[in-house]
Amino acid sequence: MNYFRKDRSDEIVNSRTSNTSNPRVQEVMSSLIRHLHNFAKEVELTQEEWEHAVDFLTRTGQKCSGERQEFILLSDVLGFSMLVDAINNPRPEGATENTVFGPFHVAGAPEREMGARITLEDKGESCLYEGCVTDLDGNPIKGARIDVWSDNAEGFYDVQQPDEQPKWNNRGIFTTGSDGRYSFIGIRPVSYPIPDDGPVGEMLKAMGRHPYRPAHTHFLVTAPGYQKLVTHIFVSGDPYLSTDAVFGVKDSLIAPYERTENAETVWRSPFNFVLTPFSHKSTQ
Ligand code: BEZ
Ligand code: FE
Repeated sequence: MNYFRKDRSDEIVNSRTSNTSNPRVQEVMSSLIRHLHNFAKEVELTQEEWEHAVDFLTRTGQKCSGERQEFILLSDVLGFSMLVDAINNPRPEGATENTVFGPFHVAGAPEREMGARITLEDKGESCLYEGCVTDLDGNPIKGARIDVWSDNAEGFYDVQQPDEQPKWNNRGIFTTGSDGRYSFIGIRPVSYPIPDDGPVGEMLKAMGRHPYRPAHTHFLVTAPGYQKLVTHIFVSGDPYLSTDAVFGVKDSLIAPYERTENAETVWRSPFNFVLTPFSHKSTQ
């Protein structure tokens, strides 16, 4: 009889899945069950710890709403979002790398004229962002859509402060012309804590970790025939670069922020986006 026993627990549970007609369900669930059982055995999980975990997951679900996704935040701080991205979006040498999407993108931002200002309040140090969207050979890409969003000078996105910030503050969409170039004026962003007033924040505290992300500006760059690029550029020199709460930093995404002589744009951050064609074969 295949009754439950500790020494063969995963094998016994997995033997019941053999009737599924979906081989991927079989593969994923049997691996998950094997790792989960081995985890509990390795740490000798106590009954209290199991109850704590159930309560934690329950509260994580209860914290979720239309505006808050605590489960994705959990995945982010465990480095799991970055791992899934790395598995699914390997990029060839020379292409701009992906990083975590985050919860603060809002679809339908205003389309703005090239060079326009995205900061709609009088806060922060202004920064000229400019560069080119190219293919892997350096040819400019016409018609690339650059969707940009960042926090304000106090570390909040507009959607976190709907009564204090103008709608679409520090957001905009720009479309490149035949030279592939883009430019706009935003602010030099600041580091900020991820939402840490829920179970994920408690978990970070218990693990002795801070909730901060190094200052960054988000970009979603798309162009027909090219893989979607979800990325940030990070402010060089930020003290949180090596301890980003969600592990989003990559060397290639740290951009220069150069001081200018110009009163209108105190900083300048040059950065080129290199897109990968759909046809490119992964080398991994
Ligand atoms: C963000 O950069 O907006 C972000 C990413 C992951 C979790 C929380 C915030
Ligand atoms: Fe962010």
